[in-house]
Amino acid sequence: MAEAMPFEIARKIIELLGSTTFEELGFIWGVTDELQKLKGTVSTIQDVFQDSEESQYKEDGVRVRGWIMKLRGAIYDADDLLTDLSTQDLRRREMDGDEMAKKVGTFFSSSNQVAFRLKMAHKLKAMVERLKEIENDMKNLELVVCRPQATVVSGERGQTHSFVEEFFWGREEDENNIIGLLLNFDEGLNVSFISIVGIGGLGKTTLAQHVYNDEKVKAYFELKMWVSVSEVFSVKTVAEKIIECATRRKPDNLPYVFLENRVHQELDQKKFLLVLDDVWNVENGEWSNLKSLLMGGSMGSKVLITTRTRYVAKITSTVSPYFLKGLSVEKSWSLLKRIAFNNGEDSNPDHEDIGKKIVEKCQGVPLAIKMIGRVLYFKRTVDEWSDIENKELTNIDQEENNILPILKLSYDYLPVHLKCCFTYCSVFPKDYEIRRLALIQLWIAQGFI
Ligand SMILES: Nc1ncnc2c1ncn2[C@@H]1O[C@H](COP(=O)(O)OP(=O)(O)O)[C@@H](O)[C@H]1O
Ligand SMILES: [Mg+2]
Repeated sequence: MAEAMPFEIARKIIELLGSTTFEELGFIWGVTDELQKLKGTVSTIQDVFQDSEESQYKEDGVRVRGWIMKLRGAIYDADDLLTDLSTQDLRRREMDGDEMAKKVGTFFSSSNQVAFRLKMAHKLKAMVERLKEIENDMKNLELVVCRPQATVVSGERGQTHSFVEEFFWGREEDENNIIGLLLNFDEGLNVSFISIVGIGGLGKTTLAQHVYNDEKVKAYFELKMWVSVSEVFSVKTVAEKIIECATRRKPDNLPYVFLENRVHQELDQKKFLLVLDDVWNVENGEWSNLKSLLMGGSMGSKVLITTRTRYVAKITSTVSPYFLKGLSVEKSWSLLKRIAFNNGEDSNPDHEDIGKKIVEKCQGVPLAIKMIGRVLYFKRTVDEWSDIENKELTNIDQEENNILPILKLSYDYLPVHLKCCFTYCSVFPKDYEIRRLALIQLWIAQGFI
């Protein structure tokens, strides 16, 4: 799952080996030396984790990746080995009082225990050698010791970015255009379908939200409904969500015909606005069902769709799709400045040239600009900015609308211990509403925090 996982396990191993339990255990099983050597090697290796992860995609990428794979196996095995040892120790501790006194003789004199001790000492020795070899490879790869940077989360320049979330920049014209389309009365059609098309992160959802909350739009429509669609499009789910929005109650799990009736009742003769956010794919049959579901609305009703694909826009729109463009370089730079500096204050004119080059690579995609802005927030000098531009953003393919490398950059620059927390979130399905407290408890259970 996460490249950062072995780092956490390595940390756990070091912690375990420093505990009094393991000190005692080393003494009882006669393996103190091996445990100490193990701790030393794991500590040295752990120090280069950060560096090796960031190096994965650079010159020596393949070799470094091979090294990480080898290390990952060894770290997991070391963890298993220590678990074996501590389990054995737990058994010993469970024998208390008289029973302990009775059994202690057999425990230590038994040939089984001697055999176990020898086996463990042997395994620990082999593990130390295996890790030593990995340490040597690490030196050959010139992976230098680099402590995880805490600066990304606690830089000198403060921590909070929350203002950005409320901040919407440079979309006035698009907003007016979409509002114009929504308020335009289409004679002859009860319901018109309008789609906003553009790649992920371009700001389709945010734009739709702003339009949805606009005062003129509020006044024009009698009923407004927002449905987040995502990968699977099903008319039944849309019908359920429409009922939920209109009545503010989740409907019972009813067969579709009942839901259809309810939707007809709710929409009957009302001028409504329905937003279908992030539609990925629709089958023609399903789409016709949706149309007949919605036809009861009064003239002027609108369905606003946001989608990444032209194909969806083409089969769903009754008017030409609205192709959302990236922000201009000027607007992108203003957005970057606002994020990379405190509200754009204390921005340095020297940063502008390089900053504009950086935003060009973001192709006007606000999500990419925000992500890179958060990385640059902790880089103060123009040289550091140039470094990011030259080293990290060189391979970004302008033609392919490929902003993923930029998004990944914000992950690469997280401290290793936060990478674990972040990648753990991939266990949740898309659009799943994660409960903050539950997630924190899961992180604790995993030993990440
Ligand atoms: N015009 C804008 N100004 C500032 N931030 C924006 C703007 N448009 C989008 N964003 C931010 O960019 C991110 C992605 O926007 P979103 O609307 O979810 O994109 P999409 O729906 O196209 O994938 C969000 O964090 C949003 O707050
Ligand atoms: Mg979206």
